Amino acid sequence: MTSTAPVPADAGLAQLRHAAAGCRACELWEPATQTVFGEGPATARIVVVGEQPGDQEDRAGEPFVGPSGTLLDRALQAAGIDRRDAYVTNAVKHFRFEPRGERRIHQSPNAEHLQACRPWLAAEFAVLQPEVVVCLGAVAAKALISPSFRITRERGQLLPWTPPGATWHEEDEDGAPAQTWVIATTHPSAVLRTPEEGRPAAFDAMVADLRVVATALP
Ligand code: URA
Repeated sequence: MTSTAPVPADAGLAQLRHAAAGCRACELWEPATQTVFGEGPATARIVVVGEQPGDQEDRAGEPFVGPSGTLLDRALQAAGIDRRDAYVTNAVKHFRFEPRGERRIHQSPNAEHLQACRPWLAAEFAVLQPEVVVCLGAVAAKALISPSFRITRERGQLLPWTPPGATWHEEDEDGAPAQTWVIATTHPSAVLRTPEEGRPAAFDAMVADLRVVATALP
């Protein structure tokens, strides 16, 4: 069962984060520790979108602070992008998991979870008006680019794109980018899951995709 996310109109990031903390638009809020909203400066030119918070992110209340986050930081740095200049968020802002004994096993969000959370992402884009959006992995890429998007075939390509709910391109506001671009790369957890002998190449391929972003934004 989903309802409507309580997104305040014309809100800044702090107000959105505050409102999202009380979101009950889908059932994921209940077993989760807290909403994990996006993090980063309002001036960020790059928005990085993952799938959903993991176990450590759920506990910390911040995106990409666990092992995937460490790998993401390394990949961004190798590509010449300082994570502190980017805004990092997720397509779904609550951790979906299945309890198994003491452990909480990651479950991918379904279409309803993505739909319920989409207004938050749209509100983040409206504040940030990013130049480039980087989708990490298939869940984010399918949600934001196209359901038929295939990471293996289409990764590393900058595509002209209109963020959900975007009005700023039409309004031509001062300082707003004339065009937003989207690009997809592998999810850091997929690199971590790659068997050891192939992991350096998987990491390098992710860095090569991120370099496309760094080159587009001198
Ligand atoms: N994986 C994600 O997609 N997002 C996070 O924040 C952490 C792990």
